Amino acid sequence: MECTPGEGNMSPTRNSCARGTMGDMRPTAQCQPLKGPEGHDGAVPAARRHTPVLLERCLELLAPALSPQAGGAPGAVLIDCTLGMGGHAEAALERFPDLRVVGIDRDPQAIALAGERLARFGQRFSAVRTTYDHVDEVARSASSRQDGTVDAVLMDLGVSSLQLDEVGRGFSYARSAPLDMRMDQSGGTTAQELLDTAEERELARILRTYGEERFASRIASEIVRRRRAGQPVRTTDELVELVRAAVPAAARRAGGNPAKRTFQALRIAVNSELEVLKRAIPRALNSLRVGGRLVVESYQSLEDRVVKQALAAGASPRAPEGLPVVPLEAQPYLELLTRGAERAQATELAANPRSAPVRLRAAARTRPAAQAPAPHSTQRADGARHPSKNTRGRTRR
Ligand SMILES: C[S@@+](CC[C@H](N)C(=O)[O-])C[C@H]1O[C@@H](n2cnc3c(N)ncnc32)[C@H](O)[C@@H]1O
Repeated sequence: MECTPGEGNMSPTRNSCARGTMGDMRPTAQCQPLKGPEGHDGAVPAARRHTPVLLERCLELLAPALSPQAGGAPGAVLIDCTLGMGGHAEAALERFPDLRVVGIDRDPQAIALAGERLARFGQRFSAVRTTYDHVDEVARSASSRQDGTVDAVLMDLGVSSLQLDEVGRGFSYARSAPLDMRMDQSGGTTAQELLDTAEERELARILRTYGEERFASRIASEIVRRRRAGQPVRTTDELVELVRAAVPAAARRAGGNPAKRTFQALRIAVNSELEVLKRAIPRALNSLRVGGRLVVESYQSLEDRVVKQALAAGASPRAPEGLPVVPLEAQPYLELLTRGAERAQATELAANPRSAPVRLRAAARTRPAAQAPAPHSTQRADGARHPSKNTRGRTRR
């Protein structure tokens, strides 16, 4: 969809497709007036709102798939699954002059800001508003190959500085705001609704599983007690205070803000982050041509575990040990490009403290997805296996 002049302060940007999270076609917010970080009109350029993390290393890892000089295909396609403010996408478009980038983001404001920033690349950039587990559909429509594959996929997970800094989004425990935390504010359940309606056991599970919070039960119990007393928490700072009061005194003093893990857990639950990621990684791997590359930056251990397991599985033979010859279908289909997870160096950490938690992993496809597809995950986000039916129809774990 292209904006028509006068519908907001956006210059027209190209959108190959504009989808909601369920794949339905709907207009993007590209024509909405943009707001500054404090919620006023008067746009702050996208480039100043978010500093891309490990940018040079990402480009270096992507280069062999994207640059014809390094053996990549001419007119290569990169899907940036987490477009954000378009920092990584812009650098890739500048570095690889033939490259086309399709950016995905579920946040309409990110699509709008990045679209404005990248409009100068014309047809070489397009954006799709959806969740990144639609990466395979996006790849098929962007691909010029019959098998629908692309050359590379980039994922820079989590929230952007725009989302963290913008008052009203409710992601940050540093400032008072309503408890929203949705990356796409056009639908879905807010953190407030979750806190108002979830049972105590469910709240404790969310805090324990997604926040790795030791005091999950205490915090959940206090949330529910406040609710029953007719004094539910209403804002981010009230939640911070509640957590502070609920945890033991020693935990208040150690390891930064004690509400950090609660905020992470609620954000992951509100946006179903791990479920979407588990669907997305095999789809991204199956959207790559042979030689195509996947680069993923994670910011917390749960998402890094999902990525690590999927890449390790693709890089190892699936035959039982001891077979004299590994059958073709059991041979690895990925080559790992990073040894373990790579972290930000001291200079980047000093310039951009938000790079501190990053863990970068990358892999290249060595066999076609048609021969060796990455299996769809059967694991739940908390690491347990999905219940599956045995042949007699009983559920087993
Ligand atoms: C860390 S930022 C990306 C920043 C970007 N690389 C840049 O340089 O500007 C992550 C972005 O991914 C988006 N995002 C997170 N989860 C998503 C999902 N499941 N589907 C689509 N977009 C998602 C967020 O809305 C956010 O804009």
